[in-house]
Amino acid sequence: MHLTITPPDDMHLHLRDGRAMADVVAHTARTFARAVIMPNLQPPVTTAAAACAYRQRIIDALPEGSNFEPLMTLYLTDLTSPDEIVEAAADDTIVGVKLYPAGATTNSDAGVTDLDLVIPTLETMSEHCLPLLVHGEVTDPAVDIFDRERVFIDRVLAPLVERVPDLRVVFEHITTADAVAWVLQAPPRIVATITPHHLLLDRNAIFSGGLDPHHYCLPVLKRNRHREALLWAATSGNPRFFLGTDSAPHPRHAKECAHGCAGIFSAHAALELYAEAFEDADALHLLEGFASHHGADFYGRPRNGGAITLVREEWTAPATYAFGDAVVVPLRAGGTIRWRVAKEEDVGTLER
Ligand code: DOR
Ligand code: ZN
Repeated sequence: MHLTITPPDDMHLHLRDGRAMADVVAHTARTFARAVIMPNLQPPVTTAAAACAYRQRIIDALPEGSNFEPLMTLYLTDLTSPDEIVEAAADDTIVGVKLYPAGATTNSDAGVTDLDLVIPTLETMSEHCLPLLVHGEVTDPAVDIFDRERVFIDRVLAPLVERVPDLRVVFEHITTADAVAWVLQAPPRIVATITPHHLLLDRNAIFSGGLDPHHYCLPVLKRNRHREALLWAATSGNPRFFLGTDSAPHPRHAKECAHGCAGIFSAHAALELYAEAFEDADALHLLEGFASHHGADFYGRPRNGGAITLVREEWTAPATYAFGDAVVVPLRAGGTIRWRVAKEEDVGTLER
C-alpha cells in the first residue's frame, strides 16, 4: 500500500542554530518543502534583520541540492515596535510573529509579560496581514499545568481576538478538546496547528515504563479524550487545522536529567507518524489537505509542486541521531514506524 501526496509543509518547527541546526534541518528537508521556523533562539530572533541572517544560516546548512524553504518568524517582546512590524511585513521571507507568554516554555524569558503593552504592535500586524503565532498557555503558577491551555483561551486568546479585529492568529500545537471547540466557533481568521505527538500519545506516555523525559513537551500531553478530539479535528478535512510538528530537539543530556527540557524531536519521521495517526482514524485520504494544502492556503503561499510517496512498510527508528556535539533521542526511538517515505528512484516500481 502507498500514498502519493503534494509535498507537505511543517508550519511549526524548531531548528536551533549552529552545528546542531545543520544536523536537524536535513531531517525536515528530506520530506518537507517548507517550514515555519520558530525564533526562540538565545538570544531570540526579534528583528527582521536577525531573521534574515538566521534564514541565511539555515540555507547554508542545507544538504546539497535541497530546495527547502525556511519561512521566518519574529519573536514578540514587550518592546517590539510597530515600525519593526512594518519592516517585517515588507519582507516576503517573514510569515509571522510568535507570542510566547514570558516564562511559558523553552527560551521564553524575553516573551511578552503583558499583552496590553503590545496592542499597537498587534494592530500594526493586523493592518499588514502578518499573523500572530501563539503559544497558548497561561504562566500563572496557580493554574494546574494540565489546564493552562484551556485557561489561556478564556483569559487571553478570546479577549485578544475581540480586541484586535482582523488579526490573523495561529493557535499553535493545540492539545485539548477545549481548543478544538474554541477554534471551531472563532472567526475564520483563527486557525490551529497540531503535532504528531499530541495525535499519537496521551499523558500516560510520560509515565509508562518509568518516567520518560522524551515524552515531556509543552504544552504537556493531555488525557486520551483530548487526543481523540485532536485526531477528530485533524481528520475532519476542515482547513482551519493543519500540520505543525513542533519538533524541538534538545541534546540527550538536557532531557535525561533533573529539570530536563521540554521538547520532542520528531523531524526524523514526522510525516510518517502523521500517516500512522491518519491511518488509525481511517482517514489517510485527508492527510494531504492537512499536511500540504491548509497551511499553505492560510499563509497565502502557493501549494508545493511535485509529489511525495509514503509506503506502508515498517522500519525501526534509531536510538539517537547526531545533534552537534551531542545526540538527540527521537520520538519512537528504537521502535517501529509503520510508514516510510519512498526514495525517488523506487516510486516508479510501486504497484498502482
Ligand atoms: O516542548 C516544547 N519545546 N514546547 C515549546 O513550546 C518550545 C519547545 C522548545 O523550543 O524546546
Ligand atoms: Zn514550538
